[in-house]
Amino acid sequence: MQKQSVIVSGKNGQLGNELAVLAALFPNFHFVFAGHAELDISNSIAVENIFTANQPSWFINAAAYTAVDKAETDQEQAYKVNAEAAGIIASNCRKHKTKLIHISTDYVFDGNGNEPYLESDATNPVNYYGYTKWMGEQLALQNNPDSIIIRTSWVYSRFGNNFVKTMMRLMKERPQLNVVNDQFGSPTWAKDLAETILTIVRRTGEQPTFFKPGIYHYSNEGQISWFDFAAGIRDLMKFGCAVNPIPTSQFPTPAKRPSWSVMSKQKIKQTFEVEVPEWHQSLVKCLADFE
Ligand SMILES: NC(=O)c1ccc[n+]([C@@H]2O[C@H](COP(=O)([O-])OP(=O)(O)OC[C@H]3O[C@@H](n4cnc5c(N)ncnc54)[C@H](OP(=O)(O)O)[C@@H]3O)[C@@H](O)[C@H]2O)c1
Repeated sequence: MQKQSVIVSGKNGQLGNELAVLAALFPNFHFVFAGHAELDISNSIAVENIFTANQPSWFINAAAYTAVDKAETDQEQAYKVNAEAAGIIASNCRKHKTKLIHISTDYVFDGNGNEPYLESDATNPVNYYGYTKWMGEQLALQNNPDSIIIRTSWVYSRFGNNFVKTMMRLMKERPQLNVVNDQFGSPTWAKDLAETILTIVRRTGEQPTFFKPGIYHYSNEGQISWFDFAAGIRDLMKFGCAVNPIPTSQFPTPAKRPSWSVMSKQKIKQTFEVEVPEWHQSLVKCLADFE
């Protein structure tokens, strides 16, 4: 039997890299990994060409414009990549009967809640990046209602740029660091998310009715602040750096952040029978992965 093809965009990002590492464990699928240079997802001709050339069964969109602060001023590019491109990919998925897994963000919420957000809760992004990702969800679902959209949060990995790497670098250089203690969320080890995505792909390959379109939330378990996250990294790495809690008002950024972006993972756990590891347990594994 011919192997199903799986296209992954954004191969040089955190999630793209983790998917590439795990793909080796899925020999029944033919993976095509494309970075920005091979596939600009905002270029509709390039997207059409990759669909025509590969006739993929799956498209995993791990590419995005992720510079949250820069998006406030670089609006045109952020909108093209996060909103329009999601729509372009989704229309091609519909045309070629390709299953789409598109990645979105906790930043679609305004952060005024105090309970883990459900997929059905009202969205109201507070920064331009969040708005473009929310539009991407809308366009993906409009152009291909059979899409799976997974919202994730606070992603880190041994690949790419992220909070864990920044903290490790600064903690080596400085005797103390100030970190905000009034924004709460859940970190996500990109490898855990990659495993969940590929579980959906593999199990759908065994049993097509396993695929259930819709919006899902995925992060690691736990509700912490950036300060808690930084302290966890410091303790595990045994750095001597002092970590001081500060309010967001003392760390102004061009883009506003939601103060609460914890998401409920019940739906993805129940629908796809996946386990969601606790944040600290995954951080331990990721730090071991660095070495
Ligand atoms: N990182 C987080 O904390 C976080 C939080 C919530 C949700 N998410 C979502 O999770 C997904 C994966 O994020 P990530 O952390 O893996 O992101 P990442 O490390 O920033 O990787 C994104 C990749 O997309 C590529 N890209 C940008 N514009 C592109 C274009 N026009 N065409 C093709 N590729 C393009 C980038 O390549 P270049 O660098 O070469 O442009 C980069 O390799 C994204 O949908 C993101 O919005 C991330």
